[in-house]
Parts: sequence; C-alpha cells; structure tokens
Amino acid sequence: MAKNNRIAILTGGGDCPGINAVIRAVAKKAILEHGAEVIGIEDGYDGLVRGKWRKLEYNDVSGILTLGGTILGTSNAANPYRYPVKRKGRLEFQDLSRTAIKNAKSLNMDCLVCIGGDGTMHITSNLFQDGVPVVGIPKTIDKDLPETDYTLGFETALNVITEEIDRLRTTAGSHKRIFVVETMGRHAGWLALEGGEPSGAFIILIPEYDFSLDKVNELVLEGRRGGARYDIVVVAEGAKPLGDTEFVRQEGVDSFGHKFLGGVGDFLAREIQEATKVETRSINLSHLQRGGAPCAYDRRMGRYFGIAAMDLVAMGHFGKMVCVRNGKISACPIANTIGRPQFVDVDTQYDVERYNGRRTILRTLEKKPTPR
Ligand code: F6P
Repeated sequence: MAKNNRIAILTGGGDCPGINAVIRAVAKKAILEHGAEVIGIEDGYDGLVRGKWRKLEYNDVSGILTLGGTILGTSNAANPYRYPVKRKGRLEFQDLSRTAIKNAKSLNMDCLVCIGGDGTMHITSNLFQDGVPVVGIPKTIDKDLPETDYTLGFETALNVITEEIDRLRTTAGSHKRIFVVETMGRHAGWLALEGGEPSGAFIILIPEYDFSLDKVNELVLEGRRGGARYDIVVVAEGAKPLGDTEFVRQEGVDSFGHKFLGGVGDFLAREIQEATKVETRSINLSHLQRGGAPCAYDRRMGRYFGIAAMDLVAMGHFGKMVCVRNGKISACPIANTIGRPQFVDVDTQYDVERYNGRRTILRTLEKKPTPR
C-alpha cells in the first residue's frame, strides 16, 4: 500500500443494512493483506469535523457481518461545507470544511474510505477536490445513485416492504379494506416500484410521475366493480398529486438541502376513503425499511464493495466510487455521481407499465409526463 499504511473509514447519511459487511471487508483486507492500521471515524462527517475517531482492530470487525446499522455511527445532518449550528436559538449553516480537512490531514492516512449515498458522495467529492485522498462506496435504500446498478441496503429494504405487505394483505382481505403503504424514496421510486410489484400492489405511485387523485379513485372503484375484495396501494414518500408539492412532516431542510418528507400515505388514505367510501387505512413503513440484519445479497455485495474499495486504495486510484454494472464490479469518478439522481423511467426501464397492463403508474396520470 502507500506510504503511511493507514486508512480511515467513515459511514455517512442514513444507515442501512449491509454497511457493517463493508466495514468488515475493508478493515480485514487492510489489516490482513496490507498490515495497515484502520481508523474508524465516528458518526459520519460529524466525527471528521469534531475529531472523533477510534482505531479499529481485527476483533472490532469480526462478527459484525450480520449486524444492521453501522458500528461507527452516522449522521445525515453534518455536511462540513454546510454544518448546522444553533445561534441564539436559530439554526444557521457554517462552512467548517477547513476543520474537517485539517482533521483528515492530521490522521496521516493514505485514504479516507466513505460509505454513503448522494449527500455523502457530494461531500466526499468536494473533499477530494480539496486535496483529501478518498474512495467511495455506494449505499442507500433509495437506489438513486447514478453510475451503479445497485446500492447497498436496497435489497434488504425490498424484503421488508414485501414482508410487511404480505402481513397487511391478510388483514386487508378479511376486512375488505384498502391499505395505503408509504415507502421511503425521496426523489426516486425504486423502493415503491420494486417493493410494490412483488407484493402485488394494485396501484404504485412514485415521485417521477405526479398522480391524479381522481384517477386513483377511479381505479379503486373500477377494481371493486371487478370484484376486488381489498387493495394495496404503494406510494413513495416523494410522490405528489399533479400540480402539488411533496408532503412534509416538518418545515425546513437538512444540511444537505433535503426536505423532511412524509405524510402522502395518510393523505391518500383520507382522500380515497372520502371519495370511494371504501374503508382505507395507511401505514408508513418508515425506518423499518432501514433496520435489521442485511439479507444475503447485501452481505455479499458489502463484501465485494469493500474488497474492491481496498483494491482502489492499494492502486492509489483516489476520487473513485466502487460500482456494479451488469453484474461486474468496477469504479467510476465520484464526481460523476453528483447532482444527477437515477430516476425510474417507465418507458425505458423494465417496461413496467406494459407488464402491469398499464394499470399502476401511467393510468394515474392525466397525461403522460416527461420524466425528470
Ligand atoms: O436517503 C435515504 C432515506 O432513507 C430517504 O429515503 C429518506 O427520505 C431519508 O433517508 C430519511 O432520513 P431520516 O433518517 O433522517 O429520517
């Protein structure tokens, strides 16, 4: 490896299952193959700003493969370039990137390995521009990072969605109810779509295609006339009615500029019940989707991503993010992942609408939208 034989590792943004599998793979390869020292930064970029880290020994990463969350802790509110500080009771944002860079340099490491989603990759890319050697690893249950077919945590989240909807289905059927299930997915509808489809959802609403409430109600009534005893409607948190804005559970934005989304499921349930007179309940799967042990695929991908990241470090290929394309692990410049989320496009991806008999997404529209 390079001169200092020391790497640091950080997990940023929202947690998800599979992160510990990566930490384990990176640290084991660094320690066993390179005899390197591994430093774990605590609580994501907050730890880099505040100087909170600890040495990770072999025993610290042994036995963590099956654990959900991240043993290092994380934060999705600690962007060093826009760090939140309270002044006179008011929230302000400060540029503390110099402190973060100074702390990173003081670690005398050869590379900072950052595991994260869009926000974390943005910061990681900025740090690279500012002279910090970095390597990125993609994780987010939203699967909205570009340049990669897969992001860690997604598959486990899908399993949670299908499992929970399976449970709702039996009770919905017994009571002839409609259940509206809200999934995560701020900008992209992958979770709602790929979780809703195998759950047999009747209607799936995603952020990429604004929906018509009238059409949703029409579909529900049409289904009832056709003999449906119950219905499952899946809606991503970022989906919104035509001409409207997203539903927020709290005003303002976080340090990445993200709104605090939530509530579209409750809204839909109220509206559907009111218009169709069919008893309708809603459930927000929320952080259940990010919790628990990683499924087999996330464990395996965590291992592959970790090994590939250490290969990049050993070769000195900094500023790159590990990715997977057509089943092959490779790497791309982290900068390529900034500001261009990977959206669902029902015309070109999977041809979902055709397989659905044009029932779920496009039929909830007044007119065909232009995907973002
Ligand atoms: O980015 C991943 C994600 O799970 C989004 O789908 C969701 O909007 C957000 O994190 C929720 O974050 P928090 O844990 O801060 O509520």
